[in-house]
Amino acid sequence: MALLSGNAATAADKIDLIIDTDPGADDVVALLLAMASPDELNIRAITTVAGNVRLDKTSRNARLAREWAGRTDIPIYAGAPRPLLRTPIYAANIHGAEGLPGVPVHEPTLGLAEGNAVNYLVDTLRKAKPHSITLAMLGPQTNLALALIQAPEITQGLKEVIVMGGAHFNGGNITPVAEFNLFADPEAAEVVLGSGVKLTYVPLDVTHKILTSEARLQQIAGLDNRAGQLVGDILNEYVKADMLHYGLPGGPVHDASVIAYLLQPELFSGREIHMSVDSREGPTFGQTIADWYGTLKQPANVLWIENGDAQGFFDLLTERLKRLP
Ligand code: RIB
Ligand code: CA
Repeated sequence: MALLSGNAATAADKIDLIIDTDPGADDVVALLLAMASPDELNIRAITTVAGNVRLDKTSRNARLAREWAGRTDIPIYAGAPRPLLRTPIYAANIHGAEGLPGVPVHEPTLGLAEGNAVNYLVDTLRKAKPHSITLAMLGPQTNLALALIQAPEITQGLKEVIVMGGAHFNGGNITPVAEFNLFADPEAAEVVLGSGVKLTYVPLDVTHKILTSEARLQQIAGLDNRAGQLVGDILNEYVKADMLHYGLPGGPVHDASVIAYLLQPELFSGREIHMSVDSREGPTFGQTIADWYGTLKQPANVLWIENGDAQGFFDLLTERLKRLP
């Protein structure tokens, strides 16, 4: 009985997690970090979306990350091949033509799960225990938006949604005011925001404070395993564009910050605020309007993460990558 209650206690502490992603260099680092953390994260599935590169490549790259982590127990469902309304945009200039810079890619052995990611989200969240599943959104929010449009009642199964996206204090990375994931599908972000799900945003405001450095990359590359070598090579290539653009001494690992937040939230801090998304054509298209000082006196609808412990992040990432093959 003690064992069962012990197991039950452990099971109760685990986060039931679905990761929605557009791999993407930093997505792959996030996936490896998550798949290296089975004690805390019960990854139900990975769902892929077009974003950094086309859907066929984001889905191949998610399968590659799964193969590298040795986690063939996790199903991967492909989802939306394009945004809800706007003309698709990609970030191959940052992530490379294959969506994975710095390393050779190949066709992974294990394929995709049968069925579309949107239907998987609808079926799973409909049947889930009330507010039991956490959803980490690492790319454009198209899949979740389509699922919510098709079946608004699926919010019953969601505990919370953690979004890598948006920017306020930092400014944008795809326009002066817009961050890529929001710019790539702002209407989807509005659908998610309007659904009333418990939302946490991990924006550029915090990811740009958690930067690589020579020492931190050495820390990873020095792990002497395939995962450390891969992440070292990927990040070395991936961060070059941001370092050049911003004149920074290192680059952010945006999506992995979402997984680190789930694993060690004490590394981060933020504020419950009111936020909206601008989906009007024009210079502020895709901007997140984060009312940090409550100027509009609107009810808070997101937890906006604004700060993080950079060395704590890299120590966590290094320690978990060490567990992989
Ligand atoms: O702006 C950074 C975000 O856009 C990250 O999720 C990166 O992978 C790209 O999708
Ligand atoms: Ca991403």
